Amino acid sequence: MKTLGIETSCDETAVAVMAGDGSVRCNLVSSQVAAHAPYLGVVPELAARHHLEALPVLLAQADRSAGLGDIELVAVTSGPGLIGSLLVGTSFASSYAWARCLPLVGVDHLEGHLVSPFLSLDGAPARPTPETVLTLVASGGHSSYFLLAGGRARALNRTRDDAAGEVFDKIAAAFGLGYPGGPRVDELADAGNPRAFSFKAPRIKDATGALDFSFSGLKTMVIRTADAIVGLPLPDPSAPPQPALDLLASFRRTVVDWLLAPLEELVARYTPDVVGVSGGVAGNRELRARLAAWGRQNGVEVLLPPLALTTDNAAMIARAGQLRAEHGEREDPRRLRAYARAAWKAAADAKGRPVFPRL
Ligand code: KG4
Ligand code: ZN
Repeated sequence: MKTLGIETSCDETAVAVMAGDGSVRCNLVSSQVAAHAPYLGVVPELAARHHLEALPVLLAQADRSAGLGDIELVAVTSGPGLIGSLLVGTSFASSYAWARCLPLVGVDHLEGHLVSPFLSLDGAPARPTPETVLTLVASGGHSSYFLLAGGRARALNRTRDDAAGEVFDKIAAAFGLGYPGGPRVDELADAGNPRAFSFKAPRIKDATGALDFSFSGLKTMVIRTADAIVGLPLPDPSAPPQPALDLLASFRRTVVDWLLAPLEELVARYTPDVVGVSGGVAGNRELRARLAAWGRQNGVEVLLPPLALTTDNAAMIARAGQLRAEHGEREDPRRLRAYARAAWKAAADAKGRPVFPRL
């Protein structure tokens, strides 16, 4: 089914058109970075207003580049995310589907991230999802490994405090490097010594959380160290001194060390056919290079999607919607609900572990 995908869960307004075989026909994003940058973070009310203004513009653009006249399915992110932003997207998609008598599906944002490694931007069809997939989702809101097996997905671990991308953003804000911080810290870290500083890994005491992440202690250590040795915010953020670059490089190396720490054990335990990565932090150069090297050394296929498919986008929402529709799922456009928190957690398997309804 030719699908219109709509994603407005956070601060990117995204619209995509996907052919029935999962090939991306257009993948449009209207970035709100400039609107939120003065506040060093996303302002929910501004985000919702921006979505409202941007959606009709993106839709007209999608119509010109991929044609909307023969759309057969509308897929929209229904959660989790900022509730005002989600309501704009779900209301827009519901009205669009209702007015044209098109089937509608609501998609969980995380399902989108889980299917994104199987998409490409070169016009190729989506890759069929293998039986068992292990995917790291690392973004401004999430840091978890997910297991996709037998068509169902579940989280294998989580962060106990900040998400990986959030820590990049908070450190960048403290250094005076602007928002969002991930790409800038990544760039500056290339000029530093990643072994100049070492940070003690957190200990998570309870046995169930042995593989969980925790990044907030690292954030505090990096900010305190920087304040002590160079003073924060940096007097000239356009040219940080060498000790600051060394600290950023050591920070990036540590985040990547910790993100990759559970990999061996999870691969041994679940023997996935492929390992995927998604979320904004999946654009991190060191994470990509080390994951690729790990895959080569261990003979495991690692899927590194292009940057436009790792950050929030609507192509991944269109694809997740197609997979749900294939299972016969449809939403009543008058009743589609948006949810701010991870609602799929409510669905649990026999052992009480959270699962996605379907994927
Ligand atoms: O997936 P995404 O676009 O939105 C969320 O769902 O959060 O991820 C955005 C996050 C931000 O925290 C941003 O700083 C981070 O991903 N990010 C990076 C890089 N590019 C984006 N973090 C580290 N290195 C990067 N190259
Ligand atoms: Zn995301």
